[in-house]
Amino acid sequence: MKKILDLISEELKKAFEAAGYDSGLGKATISNRPDLCEYQCNGAMAGAKQYKKAPIMIANDVAGQLQGSAVFSEVSAVAPGFLNLKIKEEFLTDYLRSMRDDVKFGLDMPQNPQKIVVDYGGPNIAKPLHVGHMRSAVIGESIKRILRYCGHEVIGDVHLGDWGLQMGLIITELKERNPQWVYFDENYTGEYPAEAPFTVSELEEIYPTASGKSKMDGDYKAKAMENTYKLQSGVRGHRALWEHIKNISIADLKANYSKLDVDFDLWKGESDVQELIPGMVVSMKEGGHAYESEGALVVDVKEETDTKEIPPCMILKSDGAALYNTTDLATILDRMEQINPDGMIYLTDKRQELYFEQVFRCARKTGLVPSKVRLNWLGFGTMNGKDGKPFKTREGGVMRLENLIKETVDEMYRKITENQSLPEEEAARTARQIALSALKYGDLSNQASKDYIFDMERFTSFEGDTGPYILYTIVRIKSILNKYQEQGGVLSAAVLKDAVSGSEKDLMMVLTRFNACVESACEEIAPHKICAYIYDLANAFNRFYHETKILAEEDVEKKAGWIALLVLTRDILETCIDVLGFSAPERM
Ligand code: ARG
Repeated sequence: MKKILDLISEELKKAFEAAGYDSGLGKATISNRPDLCEYQCNGAMAGAKQYKKAPIMIANDVAGQLQGSAVFSEVSAVAPGFLNLKIKEEFLTDYLRSMRDDVKFGLDMPQNPQKIVVDYGGPNIAKPLHVGHMRSAVIGESIKRILRYCGHEVIGDVHLGDWGLQMGLIITELKERNPQWVYFDENYTGEYPAEAPFTVSELEEIYPTASGKSKMDGDYKAKAMENTYKLQSGVRGHRALWEHIKNISIADLKANYSKLDVDFDLWKGESDVQELIPGMVVSMKEGGHAYESEGALVVDVKEETDTKEIPPCMILKSDGAALYNTTDLATILDRMEQINPDGMIYLTDKRQELYFEQVFRCARKTGLVPSKVRLNWLGFGTMNGKDGKPFKTREGGVMRLENLIKETVDEMYRKITENQSLPEEEAARTARQIALSALKYGDLSNQASKDYIFDMERFTSFEGDTGPYILYTIVRIKSILNKYQEQGGVLSAAVLKDAVSGSEKDLMMVLTRFNACVESACEEIAPHKICAYIYDLANAFNRFYHETKILAEEDVEKKAGWIALLVLTRDILETCIDVLGFSAPERM
């Protein structure tokens, strides 16, 4: 379905043409003076030079053509040559009716749906998720959902950090503590136990201990490197332990991501592509791209147009070991072979910018991806505390994501049970739902690349630009709709009617922007645009609500018209929060 701005522009184009001017001048924008008009067109100003005429004359000519238009109720040419426009109530109602009857409220599906891999989350196994992992999970999940809603095929991949020295460290510490374990008996040929001999909380204690020891103690570090090597070269006992570590970590990660309503289609990790590395290295050498430099194997990725130094991409260290880069490159190769996507989107913190520039250039240069495959990296800023520094616990430590979620849920629980008694199960569920809206909206409403300040009080407030405010608005609508039904009204029978008040018309106009907004959020990979939109929509609804006695209205048709408007507002708000990754309760 055409976007409303396009329809308005079409009407303007016809008028410019009929008045003898270039139709290209007929472009509408949303008014930046809502006190004067709803839309505006500056085409007459742009045409002045071309036609050697005062802009106001052109504007007058065009305005003359628009008398009796089916789109505009008011067209005025104002000095020095603006066209101020108001749209007809009937036109607006018709547009909203078609939106409502369309599958996705008038959002066009792409002619060539794309297959896109979104690489987000990026947790490391055996380490707990901390607040630093939240942004990648929350933004990535939303991008995945937005692209899907817009008709693309999207595959979310968690890309686990499950290989390398960190694994060797854990194995080393396990061996120090339990040298008698069968895993360390090199003559053992039997089956290993199915159950891991440790729990996830033990692992979480073991990793920092081992990492600390290796920094102090050279022998310990050497052992860790040897154990890493043994794991990577396939020593059975080491592999079996690693499987245990991986399994219990993944179970724990899944539980934690599900607390955030985040899920992944693929649970692949760095370890899954190790076998592709040797072949990849050979072909990079044979292609003349990879060469030895100070013992290491590198690929030059600098370009003539660079304004800053882009160092070569290192493929193998001088000891022959693979690096973070190597694994990312092999993952690109794996995705091209297994999935053959049209694009890959990566979410990491901003500090990895240069790194991804190198990896992407290297992937293109060495032919791992054809030029038509898009590689997008989205770097997000830091979540800071009120002191402007990276968010910490009150004690100054790194906050676990689990704890942040719990604190937010507790705060919401306190708020919603303060003045009302809800059944315990409902209160808990609702508190969680609102808490997720607070966390996610608080994060997503900022442009991803910017840092933001996590402010519990502000994020959990029911007023202002917050998730809970959006949910509160949805719940308010639901409650009116429920009462309408209790009075015997039938929602599906309610028919939209022309706006009778300014606030009603405003609400209708915000609704018409849905498809354009979602489309640009998708094209620009920008969830914050959807947040800004629903904030406008919630505000427009609340203004209308405060001015209108909906349920007390005696004119049945008028009331039904408002109800239809409420249904559409609710549906659009719920669709938007769903793509942002949260949902609204029935009451709160
Ligand atoms: N595990 C990495 C880290 O903790 C993040 C992974 C990001 N994704 C990627 N494909 N490199 O920094």
